[in-house]
Amino acid sequence: MYTVPKLEDYSQHALDRAVVDLLAALDSETRELRTDSDWKTFRDRWMARKNGVLTQVNDTWLKAAPSPAKRDVGRRVNELKTRVEAAIEEAHGKIHASSADARLASERLDITLPGIHRPIGVKHPVLRVMDEIVAVFKAMGYSVGEGPEVETDYYNFESLNFPPNHPARDTQDTLFIAGQEQKPARDRLMLRTHTSPVQIRTMEVQPPPVRIVIPGKVHRNDPLDATHSPVFHQVEGLAVDTNITFCDLKGTLDHAMKALFGSSVKTRFYPSFFPFTEPSADMQVSCIFCGGQGCRKCKFSGWIELLGCGMVDPNVFEFVKHNGYDSSKISGFAFGMGVERIALLKYEVESIQLFYEGDVRFLEQFA
Ligand code: DAH
Repeated sequence: MYTVPKLEDYSQHALDRAVVDLLAALDSETRELRTDSDWKTFRDRWMARKNGVLTQVNDTWLKAAPSPAKRDVGRRVNELKTRVEAAIEEAHGKIHASSADARLASERLDITLPGIHRPIGVKHPVLRVMDEIVAVFKAMGYSVGEGPEVETDYYNFESLNFPPNHPARDTQDTLFIAGQEQKPARDRLMLRTHTSPVQIRTMEVQPPPVRIVIPGKVHRNDPLDATHSPVFHQVEGLAVDTNITFCDLKGTLDHAMKALFGSSVKTRFYPSFFPFTEPSADMQVSCIFCGGQGCRKCKFSGWIELLGCGMVDPNVFEFVKHNGYDSSKISGFAFGMGVERIALLKYEVESIQLFYEGDVRFLEQFA
């Protein structure tokens, strides 16, 4: 490594040589610099007040110079100082530029690569249809309610006018919660078989008038097949006020079906039985596939059965009489529809099981 030599004499020749050697050393040292800490060591080696190369030059060349040579040596030393400072600054710039280059290189982003495709999820078709049904009734001023999926015998059956041991209970293949034999019959728990219990729950807390729809999950002990599932969804409806008639029921449901299936759809009401309505009806829509001509889907009848409905049975109001439901003053209608059944029809899906299998190839058709 370069050290500052003592000058033999102060001749021009000797001075020239000393300067050339020093600049050569400066030059070769700058070329070795790689890192910021290399550069700091280099800077201190040349510039340090105490024992830096320039200080040594000052001490060994200038201070020791005989008076006649002082001017010349002084000028050369000043020039050297300028050169050294410039070299240090230049080296600093280079090192910083190259570390910025390195950072740019390591953070390089190839924007021509194809991106990662993350499909955005959509509402499940069952939920979508459920929301659509609810929206139709909301637009008519109905509010939306919910109730528990684990229900008591009282709400699921008794207060809906299914007396204990009545054969109408057999129509709803019920999944009971085990180990409740010690409880009174009306407190025993089951998975609700329909959303109708929320009718009573609503009337218990809200005096008339009531207009409500209740979407929700229900359970039945049904084996899986193309049209049955032990878990499915319903939307329940209830309207209670003074002077509610069967005409209101017909008009409301006819409007809802036209909103769901298109304005050319017709409805008809067929006598039926439910313990909680009197009279009761099954509502049918004109076949949405053949327009009522008759086809395989409607079993050549031109009609498809879609939901149960009727005028609220006065026996039901008896259970909520204390909250203003006096059947001599008020009346109401109710209805309940299966969401999957409507979704199957609307989207022409072949099996209800497709709704629960979670197969993306099926579901993405609704995206
Ligand atoms: N809860 C009935 C069922 O699951 C459907 C039903 C029929 C609901 C008539 C009603 C109604 O509110 O009035 O089969």
